[in-house]
Amino acid sequence: MLTLRGGGARRGDSLSNLGLISDGALLVRDGLIAGLGTRAEVEALPEARAAEKIDLGGRVALPGFVDSHTHLVHAASRAEEYELKIAGASYEEIARKGGGILNSVKKLRAATSEGLKERALAALKLFAAYGTTTLEAKSGYGLDVASELKILRLHKELAAEQPLEIVSTFLGAHVVPEEYRKKDRGAEQYIKLIEQNLLPEIGEKRLAEFCDVFCDRGAFTVEQSKRVLQAGRQWGLEPRMHAEQLSRTGAARLAILMRAASCDHLEQVNKGDIAALGKSETVATLLPGCDFHLGLKQYAPARALIDAGAIVSLATDYNPGTSPTLSMPMILSLACTQLRMTPAEAIAAATINAAHALRREKTIGSLEVGKKADIAVFEVADYREIPYYFGVSHCWMTVKRGRVIHAAEQAAI
Ligand code: NIG
Ligand code: FE
Repeated sequence: MLTLRGGGARRGDSLSNLGLISDGALLVRDGLIAGLGTRAEVEALPEARAAEKIDLGGRVALPGFVDSHTHLVHAASRAEEYELKIAGASYEEIARKGGGILNSVKKLRAATSEGLKERALAALKLFAAYGTTTLEAKSGYGLDVASELKILRLHKELAAEQPLEIVSTFLGAHVVPEEYRKKDRGAEQYIKLIEQNLLPEIGEKRLAEFCDVFCDRGAFTVEQSKRVLQAGRQWGLEPRMHAEQLSRTGAARLAILMRAASCDHLEQVNKGDIAALGKSETVATLLPGCDFHLGLKQYAPARALIDAGAIVSLATDYNPGTSPTLSMPMILSLACTQLRMTPAEAIAAATINAAHALRREKTIGSLEVGKKADIAVFEVADYREIPYYFGVSHCWMTVKRGRVIHAAEQAAI
């Protein structure tokens, strides 16, 4: 059993500390962890005698994965762009020709709430089947008042109607929508719409907990991003950012300055950014699925970030344009081979540090008394085999708040 207990966010060497208990056991009461230790210790607890027992048969148990960056609600894949990319077109070239995010916006605006919900529910089942128990979900494919609110309301419905915990993020500042591009100072006008028509409704109805901005070449500038994040904060939405993905803009510095919960991507950070993240509470979330899917050679400098002391986390960035995967185990495999993280570091980054990225470190991300009983069980003999096997799921059971939400019929070998 990997507990990841103790000590808060993992930096530097402590990222390798999994808090392993051999022959471990957990006692669950009302969805929370009421006791944990070796099997002998837990079986000796008076309350354990009457408890229903689930025997994990010597498999590896760990905290359920916390996927702190997804674009859960979208209408369809962008398989047509995948072929263009393979033929040599870059992500930005495709976006400039009206593909990319705007392509997904067109599809989402035309989709019904029911259709979007059905697709998201199917995805959520798979997230659970790969060991994820909490995920963040961003809006950002609506980019008008009705469509952004349609996505955020869906986050709320989905959170209420299925077992995974969903953390809602408003990403109205994903890109400037098509209809504003033809206008004079279109970006400014669109930001006004966010400030005056979207955020008040989102804030009052509590439709999101975080406000995100895609701060990059072809999206929003550092100045514009700051404005949006400040406006979000006035409505109670904490900042987080898409930063330094396609070009180095200074977005990570803004995230640190604003005490954002996380800044994500970071392929293009420079030495100064790395040092600044090392001293910051802002989590550095790496998304290697994007570079893998886009066929890019430059992954984020994970080793340098870890050495500098940054709180490194990992997420899928599940989205139709740059990372169409919902598999955290696959992300761990990429973290090991491409980011040169060890299996232990990758697991800590995907659990306790990811919980910090969502400001939920007091309730999830580790197996400790008082926290939610969110557990992923893998059909492996050794935790290192979780990233070692790639492209298959060895997740044998997933438990959310003490309830079994996924049980494998048979293990994949
Ligand atoms: O995290 N970079 C911006 N947003 C997404 C991509 C969205 C898309 O291409 O649809 C990302 O990579
Ligand atoms: Fe993203």
